[in-house]
Amino acid sequence: MPDKLIVILGATGLQGGSVARLYATLPGWRIRGITRNPTKASCSPLREAGVELVAADLDDVESLEKAFEGANAIFAVTDFWQFIQLPSTNQAAAEQGREPNQVAMDLEIQQGKNIIHAAVKHLGTLDRFVVSTLSDSEKWSGGKIKWNLHFDGKAKYTQYLKDNFPELAKKSSYLQMGFYLSNEHTMPVLTPQKQENGTFVLMGSAGTHLTPYVDPPNDTGYFVKALMEAKEANVTMLGYCELISNEEYAAIWSKVMGVKTRTVAKGMEDLKAAGLPDFLVREVGESLAYASTWGWDGGDPEVKHPKDVGVEMDKLTKVAEWIRKEDWSSVL
Ligand SMILES: NC(=O)c1ccc[n+]([C@@H]2O[C@H](COP(=O)([O-])OP(=O)(O)OC[C@H]3O[C@@H](n4cnc5c(N)ncnc54)[C@H](OP(=O)(O)O)[C@@H]3O)[C@@H](O)[C@H]2O)c1
Repeated sequence: MPDKLIVILGATGLQGGSVARLYATLPGWRIRGITRNPTKASCSPLREAGVELVAADLDDVESLEKAFEGANAIFAVTDFWQFIQLPSTNQAAAEQGREPNQVAMDLEIQQGKNIIHAAVKHLGTLDRFVVSTLSDSEKWSGGKIKWNLHFDGKAKYTQYLKDNFPELAKKSSYLQMGFYLSNEHTMPVLTPQKQENGTFVLMGSAGTHLTPYVDPPNDTGYFVKALMEAKEANVTMLGYCELISNEEYAAIWSKVMGVKTRTVAKGMEDLKAAGLPDFLVREVGESLAYASTWGWDGGDPEVKHPKDVGVEMDKLTKVAEWIRKEDWSSVL
């Protein structure tokens, strides 16, 4: 039987790269990774692993249609945060009298729609479409959360798929990726803070909900494989390796590092004090408030857990192992 073809968006990134590397080890699959620039250095390890790298742009539907040619499976992901860093986003926001994160959400939604419009052209070959998404925080918080736009843009284009493309929706499943363990490095305000007495302050939670910690470079592939192999589509799964409280995380950190820790819930004041612009204080602050008060998935009863979807749980990252392997020299 000829190999099946999986097309992976964001193949040079954390989530897509994980899917590409795992599928490259599975028999019976051809892997096509999508990037804007297949000649860049970060493509080499993927190519060496057997991944075909093809140029396409999420802003260009025709390029996506071409890239999806012959696909039996597609993994889709969009990147909200890149837009925040673009001068053009800030310029558009100033011209429109809006906030940069509102402009970024519009751009992310359009890219999501472009992916959907291209995928729907390939229903003839397509067996399963897995979309990396997040929950609709405005909806699940009953309108209390309004600025968690990196969640809500993804939720909006996911809903657009369900509402407008029933034939594609029949073949689609949804992965709500959890809280990246690496956020501790990429977001200084969440990094463990050393105190004068040698103890550490870690991020705590203002609410009662557990945090779905995830290690995207390792875990995403196993989530996507399970959703691709599941008998039924239309599954929404929360993607995490360990669902624990921030306080439990701090206790693990304490044990692995051999230091004393305490936790402090981070709120808008801390984000402001860390120098974030007001629109990001609201974006990140409401995101933390949503996750701790309503839960990362908003309490949506349809959301399944990895063990219930057939994810190979023993292959997922262990938080203690992740902490042990990380370089904490800048924190210590
Ligand atoms: N941090 C968290 O805790 C967390 C949790 C859940 C979800 N998320 C979400 O995860 C998403 C980012 O995923 P990631 O971490 O895998 O991203 P990443 O590592 O930053 O990689 C981004 C990928 O997107 C591709 N890309 C960006 N713009 C593109 C375009 N116009 N056309 C084609 N490809 C494009 C890039 O490819 P090239 O540059 O090679 O073209 C790259 O492969 C964000 O939307 C974020 O909201 C984050």
